[in-house]
Amino acid sequence: MKIVTTIDEVRAQVKEWRAQGLSVGLVPTMGYLHEGHASLIDASHSGNDRTVVSDFVNPMQFGPSEDLESYPRDIEHDAALAEAHGCDLIFHPEPSEMYNKGFSSFVDMTVLTQELCGLSRPVHFRGVCTVVSKLFNIVKPDRAYFGKKDAQQLAVIKHMVDDLNIDIEIVGCPIIRESDGLAKSSRNTYLNADERKAALVLSQAIRLGSDMVKNGEKNCSAVIEAMKKHINDEPLARIDYVKIVDFATMQQITMLDRPALCAIAVFIGKTRLIDNFFTEDVIG
Ligand code: PAF
Repeated sequence: MKIVTTIDEVRAQVKEWRAQGLSVGLVPTMGYLHEGHASLIDASHSGNDRTVVSDFVNPMQFGPSEDLESYPRDIEHDAALAEAHGCDLIFHPEPSEMYNKGFSSFVDMTVLTQELCGLSRPVHFRGVCTVVSKLFNIVKPDRAYFGKKDAQQLAVIKHMVDDLNIDIEIVGCPIIRESDGLAKSSRNTYLNADERKAALVLSQAIRLGSDMVKNGEKNCSAVIEAMKKHINDEPLARIDYVKIVDFATMQQITMLDRPALCAIAVFIGKTRLIDNFFTEDVIG
């Protein structure tokens, strides 16, 4: 496995693979890889001849008061994990390689980004769409892999690819959890011991809500209120949102009469964590 830092090096390598008729999968990441990322690399490794992992903390998707500076970074750890899961090339650029001085073109999206994380993090999806478009243009993969934990991001990327006629298959992969239920996230490392315990309210609320849906509850408010009550009982937790949206439009719905996403964002201390369930996964 190689680690490269320039766009030219990625293009040269991918060109060589293409000349041999090999297919290429891309796993875009911001590094500090964990088992969630490993599952994406595994999926790419089994679905493609070669796998590229991008490892880049993208400044454009962080708001001014967010955690860009403190976001955890460890390229040696990332390289070992990625290689063990079958990665062939890590692209680990500096911000200046991705955004030159005169950088002034952006990819943005309306509608799907007006709710959930888009509402709480107004610049986030413009940064995600822009960097992912750039990575798609640099690597030109056959397939790209994204986790369902960032369900809105997955919907946004799928929509962007459709809107802009980008010829890449977008593959969504299941949420990977710790043994006690907490969804894996690079941001879990911010939690101290008390916060780590408190963070379990997210997966517990998800379980509570999905059990209600499984047992036939159709009224979104009933599900949301029960989940909110559970989270609010934890003193270290502060709800950003608990919402149920139509998965196709990301608009809030009142009745569970179509495929829906129940998504939550909760601050545990200063750390903002997300989790979700798809009603289709619960009721089939
Ligand atoms: O999901 C992430 O880690 C990031 O949003 C992504 C897709 C790598 C873009 O920076």
